[in-house]
Amino acid sequence: MIAQADTDVIERVIELRRAIHRRPELGFEEHETCALVERELDTLGIEHRRLVKTGVAGIVRGALPGRVVGLRADMDALPITERTGLPFASEIAGKMHACGHDAHTAMLLGAARVLAGMRERLHGTVVLIFQPAEEGPGGAEPMIAEGVLDDPAVEAIAMLHVDPRIAPGQIGITPGPVNASADELFITVRGKGGHGAYPHTSVDAIPAASAIVLGLQNIAARETDPLKSVVVTIGTISGGYRNNVIADEVQMTGTLRAHEPEIRDALEARVRRVVDGIAAAYQATAEVRIVKGYPPVVNDPLLAEGFAAYMHEHSRLDVERLPPTMGGEDFAYFAQRVPGLHIRLGIRSEAAGSTHSGHSPQFRIDEAALPVGVQTLVAFARAAGDGSLPIPASRHQV
Ligand code: NI
Repeated sequence: MIAQADTDVIERVIELRRAIHRRPELGFEEHETCALVERELDTLGIEHRRLVKTGVAGIVRGALPGRVVGLRADMDALPITERTGLPFASEIAGKMHACGHDAHTAMLLGAARVLAGMRERLHGTVVLIFQPAEEGPGGAEPMIAEGVLDDPAVEAIAMLHVDPRIAPGQIGITPGPVNASADELFITVRGKGGHGAYPHTSVDAIPAASAIVLGLQNIAARETDPLKSVVVTIGTISGGYRNNVIADEVQMTGTLRAHEPEIRDALEARVRRVVDGIAAAYQATAEVRIVKGYPPVVNDPLLAEGFAAYMHEHSRLDVERLPPTMGGEDFAYFAQRVPGLHIRLGIRSEAAGSTHSGHSPQFRIDEAALPVGVQTLVAFARAAGDGSLPIPASRHQV
């Protein structure tokens, strides 16, 4: 049976989480958070090194032979002004831990404490990865490029993300795709300006853009297998000068999401065809730019099924099979390199007010989830380290 962490570990995790919550830092500015992580690892006697400015990798070497297992937490906050009214709310206007990365970092430090305390009985090596800039521009890829998975060579990796769909005591596991790709879309529609009273003498970019927004919805509704997931969202639109002037230009931005690489790749050509075709029908021209973002996160099915079965047998936690979401996560890059598992951690409770979705200024966590997270991370490290979990051979994709 995998035990819950001791009271002193739990108290320390709550203390750390609140300290990080008070001082949120955006991507690649996690200087205080990074220093806090390093101090804690020093206290625990865990060796560590800096990567990509504000990333940290700690290494716990077990006394017994076994595999090398990675555990990853993200550390960055969001540009949101907090409105929770909590006593430990953000002290920095316009910045907030509204996605739970404060909890992720604190729980990984809790797991570090537990693992460091059992070195003599620990099989294998655990690499603790504290990653910057998950919310953008992305810290996973540069940490991998600087060798965080190479020395020692990580054979399987897991992460936790808090999830307000499920309650403390529940964890969610999704074999296969669990998060979507997130590509950015930029569209400029160009017409010919003129007087609003004489539309026939100009080319109005506004009706062309309007038709494009509606036409793009056809990609999800009519062009994609209804059993596959795809999202085409236009998030911003702007253009025009005043009520009686024909707009010569409209700019739009959006996001394109998919779970499967084939559908993601097909989206680009589909968007271009719809935009160019509709623009031409309206005598306008259009320019499309797509910037590739994070790829989909694909949980290794063997690892996912194996860990769900392991937790059923060795813990009292409620292990749920959760459907994937269309959110994005740069853990995708880790999971492309080695078999990976994104585990959802339940935080929902009416009493704690933790029913808001991530990225909301009211976002809260039920701290009863924190010991569950520590327990889950430790369980993964031990089960993967001592060979209780089946680990497929690494698929090093270049
Ligand atoms: Ni997040």
